[in-house]
Amino acid sequence: MTAGTVSRPAPPRVWTQRHLLGLEDLSRQEIETILDTADEFVAVSERRRKKRTDLVGKVVVNLFFEPSTRTRTSFSLAARRLSADTLDFTPSSSSLSKGETFIDTAKNIEAMGIDVIVVRHSTPGAPHLLSKHLACSVINAGDGAHEHPTQGLLDIFTIRQNKGHIEGLTVGLVGDIAHSRVARSNIHGLLKLGASVIVCGPPTLVPPSIARLGVEVSHKLDEILPRCDVINMLRIQFERQRHGLFPSISEYARLFGVDSARLGKAKPDILLLAPGPINRGVEITPDVADGPHSAILQQVTNGLAVRMAVLHLLCGQPSEEH
Ligand code: CP
Repeated sequence: MTAGTVSRPAPPRVWTQRHLLGLEDLSRQEIETILDTADEFVAVSERRRKKRTDLVGKVVVNLFFEPSTRTRTSFSLAARRLSADTLDFTPSSSSLSKGETFIDTAKNIEAMGIDVIVVRHSTPGAPHLLSKHLACSVINAGDGAHEHPTQGLLDIFTIRQNKGHIEGLTVGLVGDIAHSRVARSNIHGLLKLGASVIVCGPPTLVPPSIARLGVEVSHKLDEILPRCDVINMLRIQFERQRHGLFPSISEYARLFGVDSARLGKAKPDILLLAPGPINRGVEITPDVADGPHSAILQQVTNGLAVRMAVLHLLCGQPSEEH
């Protein structure tokens, strides 16, 4: 799949939020505003002069209590492209180890004149808690198994870029639904934009309550695959599982992994996403991950534009040059 900017008439921009805590909180119009703004930032990233001045004089802090490659790097680069000052806070070498609380830590960082805190934490609701105690904007970069809104947005953006629309598509979310914040953000965003969502995985990794969000539930990938326009292959989150939830990795890969033989039963133009990191050979075989249906690295490229759009909408000024 090749990346490209989708051209469409500019709808009125709707944006009222001070924080980005989850896609559950956003209206369809607000999600579309982020996607349309990100379209403009894709074009910025493709030109020779990539720097803009939207966030001159603003300070963006990354506060990551869990590991990250894509999200943390992408937020740093997005903030710098918009001319913000950026800080990376490292919890392990901070005064948290002396007993300072999470809230006190955040308040002390904010007292240095911070405009945006990007927070990832293993506890669901941690960004929401910060948003109640701080005056600056808070962006949720992943809170436990709850939401990962910018990942959901970049997944949806990548689908729209390749398919031209979201309304009417059938999207399969496959794998470890129970522990996946990416699944929840995708579900909220895709349903608001008019897609149908099927969640698929072993019964131990798909909580029955997920159906209440308005999705179809399946435990047989081969049955739902031919109906899907897009599949998003979610990582088995071994670090969040307290005990074995399926008999073996090879058994999981046989029933829920995608290799070229299984992909051959899908629609010829199926789009394959994965939020990363991927367990190669478990959720997806290497030939499929690196093959023509995969948009995995395109998702990462789009993540930069989506995060620039979010920062711009939360605290940006019009750039001095376009
Ligand atoms: N997809 C995602 O959130 O990746 P990182 O954990 O590397 O940020």
